[in-house]
Amino acid sequence: MVFPYKEYVRTPITLRIERGFIRAIEGGLDAAYLRSVLEGQRDPDAFAVSHVGWGLTRNARWDALGQYDKNGTEGQDARGFYGNFLFSTGPNVSGGGIRAVPLHLDVPMRRCSVYLDEQPMVLNGDVIPTERHIA
Ligand SMILES: [Fe+2]
Repeated sequence: MVFPYKEYVRTPITLRIERGFIRAIEGGLDAAYLRSVLEGQRDPDAFAVSHVGWGLTRNARWDALGQYDKNGTEGQDARGFYGNFLFSTGPNVSGGGIRAVPLHLDVPMRRCSVYLDEQPMVLNGDVIPTERHIA
């Protein structure tokens, strides 16, 4: 899903990210739309990675977004559902950075595997409990 436009991605999007910036966006209609939205900012900082993380909320549902009128939700379920990997673009001023581009996209994804320093944090959408992390 992509916020703030509150849409499910229905065709694959492949991003090539180097040194914290999206350098290529490949795929079909959804990729073209994402590229157009970012290019529309006319600011290279729109292509920056803002923050990443994974969801821990078991009561949140990835399918909730489709059950509400777009004006009736901010997408809290989609942004926080258990096991998602959320990738975002644009500003980093709230984290102490200097990028202030106004467009901020949150992109929660399902069934991802996430590794930190080669250690799995999420495997195919299943969060690895802390006690199973290697010290
Ligand atoms: Fe965000």
